[in-house]
Amino acid sequence: MQIGKGASILALGAAVATGLAAPIAASAGEPAAGERAIVAGGMGMMGGMGMHRNMMQGMMGGALPPGIDPAHLPEPDSSGAHLLQQFCMQCHNLPGPGLHTASEWPQVLGRMNMRMRMMGGMMGGMMGVAAPDQVQLEILLGYLQRHAQKPIDAAAYPDLDTPPGRAFGTTCMQCHALPDPRQHTAQEWPSVVARMRDHMTAMGKINPDETTTNEIVDFLQRHSAAQK
Ligand code: HEC
Ligand code: HEC
Repeated sequence: MQIGKGASILALGAAVATGLAAPIAASAGEPAAGERAIVAGGMGMMGGMGMHRNMMQGMMGGALPPGIDPAHLPEPDSSGAHLLQQFCMQCHNLPGPGLHTASEWPQVLGRMNMRMRMMGGMMGGMMGVAAPDQVQLEILLGYLQRHAQKPIDAAAYPDLDTPPGRAFGTTCMQCHALPDPRQHTAQEWPSVVARMRDHMTAMGKINPDETTTNEIVDFLQRHSAAQK
């Protein structure tokens, strides 16, 4: 995500830029505000309180990924999709692979892995957060990268500098890299854009009016993949 990241994310990103193989415990940065609050809350309660996703989502909504319905995951029956649901919904809603490009995912996954290890080790595992092992981590990375956002090659689309192109540009890179229109067919784009509009509403991003939305869909369809 290019926009809307909190300062703590930037700081942590730098700390874990070394990626997946880095020894995690040693490099764990400051927990984010939401985690600190959850840890503090958890300590005051009796018994093992699992991470409370709703609580976290409420406190850190702006920094957390908007959720996707598991039914919308690509390759829903693959082990990657299963591991994503097993590990990545422990603290927030289910993140879709399209949120990042293949080159961005290693760093984001490395940061999330660090968080899981950090939370998993806390108070002898009382937070109840599990972390993937190395094999599972590699399956997750492969899955996320295989279905990652494909960024547009702007040079190949001179009409990005027309009104519909500009509307597409400003609207569709509020949360992830500007998508390559060729990753969907003309038939597929309207429902993808409809799902994106739900994300925009959920995240309080600028959601264009009907006319502009239709222009964006037209733009995408004009450049879309040939019928599959
Ligand atoms: C231990 C809790 C925890 C778990 C488990 C977790 N996350 Fe996160 N996630 C966070 C927190 C906290 C943030 C907001 C701060 C940040 O971005 O680091 C976040 C934010 C995100 C974001 C939005 C920020 C960005 O850089 O795009 C994505 C995407 C994400 N997580 C993906 C994942 C994936 C994929 C997994 C499973 C491999 C996962 N998360 C598991 C705690 C967690
Ligand atoms: C408010 C944030 C947000 C905005 C703005 C946004 N997206 Fe997304 N996008 C997401 C999220 C979250 C995902 C991953 C979950 C999913 O696939 O629904 C995603 C995934 C995608 C994917 C990969 C998944 C798939 O079905 O292929 C494509 C393509 C995409 N977005 C296109 C667009 C287009 C086109 C626009 C502009 C009309 C747009 N996005 C605007 C949040 C956003």
